[in-house]
Amino acid sequence: MTVVAFANQKGGTGKTTLLMNVAAALHHCGRRVAILDADPQGTASRWSQANRQQPFPVPIHPAGRSAEEVTKAIKSARRGVDLLLVDCPPSVEGEETRAAVSVSDWVVIPVAPSPPDLWATRGIVHLMAALPNKGSRRHGLLVANRVPPRSALGRDVLELLAEFEFPLARTAIGARAAYAQAAALGCSVLDLKRADAACAEIQALTEELLSHIDGARP
Ligand SMILES: Nc1ncnc2c1ncn2[C@@H]1O[C@H](COP(=O)(O)OP(=O)(O)OP(=O)(O)O)[C@@H](O)[C@H]1O
Ligand SMILES: [Mg+2]
Repeated sequence: MTVVAFANQKGGTGKTTLLMNVAAALHHCGRRVAILDADPQGTASRWSQANRQQPFPVPIHPAGRSAEEVTKAIKSARRGVDLLLVDCPPSVEGEETRAAVSVSDWVVIPVAPSPPDLWATRGIVHLMAALPNKGSRRHGLLVANRVPPRSALGRDVLELLAEFEFPLARTAIGARAAYAQAAALGCSVLDLKRADAACAEIQALTEELLSHIDGARP
């Protein structure tokens, strides 16, 4: 069982968006996956309830506010699943993020490809280094999100990324209306018509995450 937290100190970097879409893609490829909503904003829970006729395909569990409650919720949500994805609030000081990162094997860190966003990413990287590991090594994966169409990552951004000890996912996620549309409809981009580019990049990111997870297993 692998716990993957989606975290970053900065708000609005795409933590919930990537988590919901990757969760649906994992479900589509037959993985037993669940989501834990550790963000008091409750965005993931609202997203999953947006369409009462067709519920989101992945079960989603609420988490409490204290470290103790989050840790307990993670323990019970992980039963019977291969992967538990934990949506964190935009904070590294909050108890929810600390509790989630403490028990995570992997932390996915969505970043907008701009220097201010990358500077803000140092907070989560420091937190990961500061928290004791639960036994095996905790890994990080940076994911460039909201990359403008036809723009390669700039040289300045790539230079800043080299400062981090974590790899950058080869798959960059584009800035696309399909992501907001999926949230509004309570589904993932995989369920949308005319969202081929978004589907392809979410599937590629999911495969990449799985190969990192499988490759890091002792
Ligand atoms: N790749 C993308 N293309 C277009 N819009 C995006 C993309 N990723 C996220 N968004 C939009 O950006 C906004 C913030 O995304 P999201 O809620 O996933 O960020 P977050 O990091 O979870 O925010 P918070 O820190 O508040 O929890 C949302 O309106 C979402 O639809
Ligand atoms: Mg969020």
